[in-house]
Amino acid sequence: MKEVLSVHDIIDSDNYISPKFRSDDNIKIKSNDDYYQFYKKSIENIGDYWAGVASELYWFKKWDINMHGDFPDFKFFLNGYSNVCFNCIDRHALKNPDKTAIIWLSEDGLERKMDYRSLMIYTSKFASYLRSIGIKKGDVVAIFMPNRIESFIAVHACYRIGAIYNIIFSGFSTKALLDRLYETMPKVIITADKTVRRGKVINIKEKLDSIINNVKSIQKVIIVKRFVDTSLNKNEVSFEDVLKETNDLIDPVHIEANEPGFVIYTSGTTSRPKGIVHSGIGFMVGAYHNVKYALDLNKSDVYWCTADIGWLTFPIFELVGGLAHGATVVAYEGALDFPGIDNFYNTLEKYKINKLFTAPTFLRMLARYGNETASKYNIKLDLISLVGEPLDTKTWYWAHDTFGADINNTYGQTETGSAWTSSIVGATYMRPGSAGLPLPGHAFKIIDDTGKEVKTGEAGTLVITKPFPSLARSIWNDHNKYINQYFSVFPNFYCTYDSAIKDKFGHIWVIGRTDDVINVSGHRISTMEMENSIMSVPDISEAAVIGIDHEIKGTVPYVFFTSKNTDNEIKNKISSAIESSIGRFAMPEKIIMIPEMPKTRSGKIMRRLLKEIVMHGDVSGDITGLENPDSINIIKNAINNQK
Ligand code: PRX
Repeated sequence: MKEVLSVHDIIDSDNYISPKFRSDDNIKIKSNDDYYQFYKKSIENIGDYWAGVASELYWFKKWDINMHGDFPDFKFFLNGYSNVCFNCIDRHALKNPDKTAIIWLSEDGLERKMDYRSLMIYTSKFASYLRSIGIKKGDVVAIFMPNRIESFIAVHACYRIGAIYNIIFSGFSTKALLDRLYETMPKVIITADKTVRRGKVINIKEKLDSIINNVKSIQKVIIVKRFVDTSLNKNEVSFEDVLKETNDLIDPVHIEANEPGFVIYTSGTTSRPKGIVHSGIGFMVGAYHNVKYALDLNKSDVYWCTADIGWLTFPIFELVGGLAHGATVVAYEGALDFPGIDNFYNTLEKYKINKLFTAPTFLRMLARYGNETASKYNIKLDLISLVGEPLDTKTWYWAHDTFGADINNTYGQTETGSAWTSSIVGATYMRPGSAGLPLPGHAFKIIDDTGKEVKTGEAGTLVITKPFPSLARSIWNDHNKYINQYFSVFPNFYCTYDSAIKDKFGHIWVIGRTDDVINVSGHRISTMEMENSIMSVPDISEAAVIGIDHEIKGTVPYVFFTSKNTDNEIKNKISSAIESSIGRFAMPEKIIMIPEMPKTRSGKIMRRLLKEIVMHGDVSGDITGLENPDSINIIKNAINNQK
């Protein structure tokens, strides 16, 4: 028996874990066996399948055609008219007005709740105000906001009148903000004066003030004031005053199912961020479906998605998907572990949260604090769902054993508008390390460079073979780029640029971006495979592997890790783990300890920056999505000292 199992050993094993938590809702897939038949049928007639899902939502006028056309020019629910705001808010406010829609919390201890009735009234008033200042269907409204109840109101007010909103992450630098505003040219921007993060007050409005004169399209700035001392400039109005002074309510407009709903920029881990355009209604149908299977939200659930509104995870799983189910959702502003990790555990305990949606990087952070901290609290988590990066098996088991919760690692992209591989929560088996099964209505293949399907257990490029409603419809201002980027590598398929393996259970293992597969002396190894074995070494907190060109071997792996253990022995342990689980051929050229990983604010490790530092000593590409811009210098010094 090998000391450390390789990803391939894990993939080939028969190891699976049955879900503990059982769905009792109206989900038709009740067992692992049910799934396969259900899935097969769903992709035999994709249009019919999605029409069934869409019928669970409200339509002003039903569509004429379920599904029309194919990649790259496809439509769903053609000539069907609906409204996202109506489905997510009014529909529940009319049935269940007193039900809490949002519980908002912040790191400085504030709490505010809003029921569905109030949410409907405020959203309707705000929509009416937008209309009164000239915002029509198809106009762009920028939303540069942290997680606040007003962010929910702003987004749904746009949906209500058919304005296209551009959500911009509030932690972005002035330059990143300006780049995005230049492209989308909004008429109105909604922002906050300040936010709190790690005990500091961060001035958001200041960033906008410094560039606003360069964005001539902006006619009005609406400010959510958290601090009384914020003064407003000409053309600025406070969100609170708008709600106080607007008495008119406005009905939701009827929006055709394929009309654009919003623009969101990709996280930019591999290249310059792209403005992804999603349809409003198609996205809603996808998000509703995604939440149904990846969370199985029930009436009694208290559910918290820890993502920031600036990343698509939040719109899918909370802002649209969560509310479409009429759930009570928790939204949080600030750092989850401030002033300490107890803050996070306290929140779980106090609000009796039983379902959590978060990122693998956050689970790794919890693991670093150890289970002693977790065990001090009375926590009753049934389910932890995740998206964003591979979830190493060490962290999977840690979370499963510590919380006694089912773990659902899902996979998706900003472009897919849904985490389309997932467990069917409460029904299908879990395979620690895999990204679950394709959700019904999502057809895919794993293919080699010639387009031929690879065998079960072999790695290839993951492509999507048929459209689904939440798939991006364009890139803002550049439809040709959309076609070239996603549909030209393998004609007729959408290319994810991710490398994946399908195992004998049909589970999908996403093992890295296609460019992250390193070819060392003719052996193809994925970064995820190596990172997984490095993570098995005790005391390693995070690991990242990149391939660097080598005259003789083609490419050689460079390993980066973070650990609280500074003992030199740890590097030997890393080498042994790789040798034991993968083989000598994968031995790293260099093993470099760094104080922290360069990460996006959504928690992804930006491997391309590590590569740039090794190759050029510095970074020149886009770093606007970086969590901590200061990390670059710290990491640069560490790398240059150990190169
Ligand atoms: O490489 C895949 C990785 O993250 C990319 C998508 O990032 P983003 O657009 O920010 O995702 C938004 C999610 C709604 C993918 O192309 N990725 C995502 N989930 C996983 C993953 N890699 C491995 N395992 C996952 N579960």
